[in-house]
Amino acid sequence: MDIYEIISARHSIRKYKSIPIEEEKLNRVLEAARIAPSAGNRQPWHFIVIKDEEVKKQLKEAQVYISPKGGDWFYSAPVIICACGESSKSWIRKDGKDYRDVDLAIAFDHLILAATAEGLGTCWIGAFDPIPAKKVLGIPEGIEPIVFTPLGYSDDSPQDRGRKSKSEIIHQNRW
Ligand SMILES: Cc1cc2nc3c(=O)[nH]c(=O)nc-3n(C[C@H](O)[C@H](O)[C@H](O)COP(=O)(O)O)c2cc1C
Repeated sequence: MDIYEIISARHSIRKYKSIPIEEEKLNRVLEAARIAPSAGNRQPWHFIVIKDEEVKKQLKEAQVYISPKGGDWFYSAPVIICACGESSKSWIRKDGKDYRDVDLAIAFDHLILAATAEGLGTCWIGAFDPIPAKKVLGIPEGIEPIVFTPLGYSDDSPQDRGRKSKSEIIHQNRW
């Protein structure tokens, strides 16, 4: 798949097969995040790779993923990745704008698209409770969990979820 095919092939996957992910694939996916660009090359990120069923169980018991239906599919993926930001490392623009979350999103999108290229499913998860997440995962002070994704082979048939048209979002020369 070329880059455009990979971008088009990515969909949020909310059902996973229970088969494990090959280590080489996981390593390539993590490498894609590692080499992402960041403001001032500060790399204000850490990635927690969760495979241990006991840790997943604790995340589930603590209801880390906020979902009216419980979100069993999230905990059932063979791997869950949590991207964390380190504000003391991020580049801050003169007017005070912190680029930490921009950097995190770039690295995580590298990871998500690399996973797609490897034939793996993902789903960005922002609806989580950071307090139990930090507790269960032992995340230290000064580090904040920003986003999760389950990672595994899809058992889902996602539809195209639609997007705004170009004419609604692209502005030529001025707004
Ligand atoms: C930053 C971010 C946070 C998201 N959080 C959640 C979430 O907590 N739970 C969920 O099921 N989907 C979540 N999504 C997935 C979106 O719902 C999904 O990307 C959107 O509906 C478009 O569908 P698609 O990813 O299949 O193209 C999130 C997506 C992004 C980019």
